[in-house]
Amino acid sequence: MSAVDDQPIVVIFEAPLGSDLYRQALRLREGILRAPLGLTVSDDELYDDGMRQHFCAVTCGAVVGTVSLRPLDEATLHLKQMAVDEAKRHMRIGAHLLAHAEAWAAQAGFRLMIAHARVGAEGFYLKLGYAQEGGASRRTPSPMCG
Ligand SMILES: CC(C)(COP(=O)(O)OP(=O)(O)OC[C@H]1O[C@@H](n2cnc3c(N)ncnc32)[C@H](O)[C@@H]1OP(=O)(O)O)[C@@H](O)C(=O)NCCC(=O)NCCS
Repeated sequence: MSAVDDQPIVVIFEAPLGSDLYRQALRLREGILRAPLGLTVSDDELYDDGMRQHFCAVTCGAVVGTVSLRPLDEATLHLKQMAVDEAKRHMRIGAHLLAHAEAWAAQAGFRLMIAHARVGAEGFYLKLGYAQEGGASRRTPSPMCG
């Protein structure tokens, strides 16, 4: 757990499947990532959630950010569901969530993180040390573990 500098206290928690934090994170990401496309969270997505590690950012008792990780093989994680409440953007909450997820990944022995960045979000990943490769953003072992 840690706070974002110069901003309201934000704490990153794991959000185990089925927990209240997980449910709040699910609502948040549905509102940010699915509703604008006229979609809801699908059964396939919920099934995929069962294979993921979920993290959320909390401030003043409310979930304001979310991200999840799924192992693709013994060295590689797929990062997905990155979303920050629109009213809380540009406060480094996304960066903080990503750093927390990377620290979790490094201590669990993973060496590569892959994300399929949405149009408009590429700059966020590039800013935070990811390299663009084909359709995906990747972060290589040394910075992730550094
Ligand atoms: C992308 C998103 C998660 C960023 O969250 P955030 O909390 O606002 O990001 P941060 O404040 O931590 O930004 C970290 C850095 O990335 C930059 N950044 C943030 N969003 C950016 C964007 N869309 N394009 C370019 N740079 C961006 C910030 O300026 C900041 O740079 P700095 O280190 O120079 O200050 C958030 O805008 C969001 O939820 N977007 C809608 C959903 C989405 O597209 N998710 C990604 C799915 S792949």
